[in-house]
Amino acid sequence: MALITWTASQYGTNVGFADDEHKILFGKLNNLYDLATGGAERSAIGAQLDDLIAYVVGHFAHEEKEMIAKGYGGYERHKAEHDALVGICAGLQTKFHAGEAEVDDGVGQLVKGWLDSHIPAFDMPYADALNS
Ligand SMILES: [Fe+2]
Ligand SMILES: [Fe+2]
Repeated sequence: MALITWTASQYGTNVGFADDEHKILFGKLNNLYDLATGGAERSAIGAQLDDLIAYVVGHFAHEEKEMIAKGYGGYERHKAEHDALVGICAGLQTKFHAGEAEVDDGVGQLVKGWLDSHIPAFDMPYADALNS
C-alpha cells in the first residue's frame, strides 16, 4: 500500500508547479518505501534514495526561486524548514552509503510526517504571493 497519496483537499496548494512536483515527489517516496519495506536489493534502495533526495533538493530550490521572485515575506522561515529536512536527508544518505543506516518504515513515516506538516503550514500560504 502506498505510503502517501496526493489529494487536493489534503495537499493542494493552488500553485500549479508545486502540485505537479509534489505529486512526482510522492511517487518517488512511495517507490522508495515499497523497495525498502519489500526486501529489495540494497543497491536499488540506494539508487532510489539518491533519486528522491535529488528531486527534493530541486523542488525546494524551485519554490525558493519563486518566493524570491515574488518578494514573499515568508521566505526565510520557509527556507529554514527546507534546509533542516535537506540536512536530515543528507545525513541519512551518507550513513546509508557507508553501510551505517538503513531505509526502513520509520524513515518513510518521518518524511511523510514532514510533508503532512510542511505542505499545509508552509507551502499553502505562499499561493497568493506566487499566483500574483
Ligand atoms: Fe513543496
Ligand atoms: Fe516548501
